Amino acid sequence: MAATGNTKQATLKIDDKSVELPIYSGSVGPDVIDISKLYGQTGMFTYDPGFTSTASCESKITYIDGDAGVLLYRGYPIEQLAQGDFLETCYLLLYGELPTATQKKDFDDRITKHTMVHEQMARFFQGFRRDAHPMAVMVASVGALAAFYHDSTDISDPKQRMIASMRMIAKVPTLAAMAYKYSIGQPFVYPKNSLDYASNFLRMCFAVPCEEYEVNPVLAKALDRIFILHADHEQNASTSTVRGAGSSGANPFACIAAGIACLWGPAHGGANEAALQMLAEIGTVDRIPEFIKAVKDKSSKIRLMGFGHRVYKNYDPRAKLMQQTCHEVLAATGHQNDPLLKVAVELEKIALSDEYFISRKLYPNVDFYSGITLKAIGFPTSMFTVLFAVARTVGWISQWSEMIQEPNYKISRPRQLYLGSEKRDYIPVDKRG
Ligand code: ACO
Repeated sequence: MAATGNTKQATLKIDDKSVELPIYSGSVGPDVIDISKLYGQTGMFTYDPGFTSTASCESKITYIDGDAGVLLYRGYPIEQLAQGDFLETCYLLLYGELPTATQKKDFDDRITKHTMVHEQMARFFQGFRRDAHPMAVMVASVGALAAFYHDSTDISDPKQRMIASMRMIAKVPTLAAMAYKYSIGQPFVYPKNSLDYASNFLRMCFAVPCEEYEVNPVLAKALDRIFILHADHEQNASTSTVRGAGSSGANPFACIAAGIACLWGPAHGGANEAALQMLAEIGTVDRIPEFIKAVKDKSSKIRLMGFGHRVYKNYDPRAKLMQQTCHEVLAATGHQNDPLLKVAVELEKIALSDEYFISRKLYPNVDFYSGITLKAIGFPTSMFTVLFAVARTVGWISQWSEMIQEPNYKISRPRQLYLGSEKRDYIPVDKRG
């Protein structure tokens, strides 16, 4: 345990027995009570489904203060990092410090040189049905990288771990673009190493061999910022999945594939699609009061999608940057009069002044504006979660790498509150009533 301080103790009383539990302080944020010896001392487990009060690990990567609306990567506020570029954020998350100019150039070169995937991967894609969801293709193809790159699956070797990390940051966008092209029946577009990360991705998604493709710099900048905003988010469901898979010693490609599978769910990566759908269903500004009324009626089960967050009980700092990015993209693509934007702006204004949302601390989250933005860039909704996966790959791999370097890391193995049958005897089928 590397956490600072261990001067405080918590006392847990069970009947007339007292158990002393050490309390550790992090560099910022809430203290934690160490219950790792609880079972040995009391024969009891703790119970916390959904991990609402449980810290699953130590980490030095990302810090969230949900009440204050703060998000820090390696100590740097997200608003400040959004002024740089995505690969700078990748370097920071992976290595812990911002790169010097020389380190940055070297890192950019190394990522750029790994963007191509093995040519046999194109044949692997042919096995999918034409209408395969791009996330299904992502789960399979990222996992399949382990079959192509045996030389970077020895997790005990730091050099191989770093090569695997670079390969994933570089190749996941290529696979994501291939998944998109495959789903629309267009030929794959090879990466172009002279382009920056986001421009290259846009080109791989939207260029066709029969025409020149010019990257719109506003859209490339916006996408780069969207990648920064989604790069890491502490011990969320998919990151915990990556750590859980990695705790058994599984190879990094398989672990990231597990993270992508978890991200696919609508409660995690799929919320921006739901927010966009909601805006379309509302349709016009005059229908907002009726919609808000339905949201407040508990029997309706309707939620204001893109609002509320398990951790943020204040404005999600990423939502502000996303709102600004949304306006820039809509202006650059001539969609500034998009009726969905009008609905979003008005909906946000009304919700932020409504007692229902204020008293429950419900604020816009990053998904409120990201669906409209991605749609305006040209992505279909089936690609929204894929883009999230492209951005989050660096967070997953940084968290995985941190875990592997932890000297005493253990396999992730929670216990349970068993509510099934007690021991009973087997009866052969012909004797059962
Ligand atoms: N619209 C209306 N009411 C809401 C909303 C919402 N979006 N979110 C929460 N509430 C209400 C609940 O009904 C509840 O009210 P009550 O106290 O009267 O019963 C109260 O606020 C607390 O809600 P919980 O569900 O307990 O809050 P929790 O922290 O578990 O949920 C969640 C967080 C799942 C994100 C929720 O706010 C939600 O469903 N939001 C909409 C979906 C969404 O935008 N998800 C994206 C999350 S960000 C991300 O994954 C990148």
